[in-house]
Amino acid sequence: MPKPEPRPRICDYEGSNYRTEFWERKDRDYEDRVERIALRRLLPPNGQRLLELGAGFGRLTNEYYTYKQVILVDYSLSQLQYAQENFGRSDRFIYVAADAYKLPFRPGVFDAATMIRVIHHMTDVPRVLTEIRRVMTPNAPFILEHANKQNIKAIFRYLIKKQGWNPFDLAPVEFVELNFDFHPAYITRELSRAGFVVRRRLPVSFFRVGALKEHLPTDVLASLDSLLQYTGLMVTPSIFVQAASDQRSAFSTTDDEDDIFACPETGAPLHREGDTLVSKATGLRWAIRDGIYDFKAPLE
Ligand SMILES: C[S@@+](CC[C@H](N)C(=O)[O-])C[C@H]1O[C@@H](n2cnc3c(N)ncnc32)[C@H](O)[C@@H]1O
Repeated sequence: MPKPEPRPRICDYEGSNYRTEFWERKDRDYEDRVERIALRRLLPPNGQRLLELGAGFGRLTNEYYTYKQVILVDYSLSQLQYAQENFGRSDRFIYVAADAYKLPFRPGVFDAATMIRVIHHMTDVPRVLTEIRRVMTPNAPFILEHANKQNIKAIFRYLIKKQGWNPFDLAPVEFVELNFDFHPAYITRELSRAGFVVRRRLPVSFFRVGALKEHLPTDVLASLDSLLQYTGLMVTPSIFVQAASDQRSAFSTTDDEDDIFACPETGAPLHREGDTLVSKATGLRWAIRDGIYDFKAPLE
């Protein structure tokens, strides 16, 4: 029997204070504003079913209100619980705790996907991109944000020999455990290998510098950033990519919410029994806890 592939390491946000510590206490209004500008430029304004991968506490979920249904996926149950408090329980917002490397969905059920501030935690980029591609319909937009190793600060530090790693080299750099910076050309190459066509890229966050953010009004910085995004100068700490899935994948639209799911371990269909989803093929059972589908581990 073939050995199961080792599971890639996961950056676990379970129980973390990401929302209060990273976004609120550190005043990242500027970053939030310019990311929304880029997202609005790249994501088609409406569609049927959007996958928000690594949704966290739902910081950006209100950008997707015009989509008929949004599926928020995150490995952290506690982040999803917070999102659920905000967006409520309904057919429009579905909360799914799952690993991005093993998505619990049938092929071709999403006609749009976003992954913002998440891939920098991924040790196996080809694997996660292939998995995302699997669950998308053909020609579906995928908006991916990635941390850019070829940013001005890294180039400067490298030139004055204050930094060992080369920002022009294609290989990802793990600058802190489970935090990677990527070369834009590496991401483009891996997207294409996974079955995506890259359509457009925007450099974002030109002014992510403490002193500037402290002394200049956020409105001014955000307006300037908005203009500079059009320059195509890929030297910012963050890059937004608009890709589209190619013709290869399945196309299985369904209106039944439970019908989108498949066993993350085997891909087998699942049927609902009360507050569980069950695979007839393997007997594996997955819990639905207070409205959140939990695919992190099967029930004993
Ligand atoms: C920096 S946060 C970004 C959250 C949100 N996208 C935002 O921009 O505010 C990264 C998120 O990715 C999630 N994550 C990391 N690895 C994951 C994996 N393998 N599968 C699913 N989610 C993952 C974490 O739980 C966390 O909520």
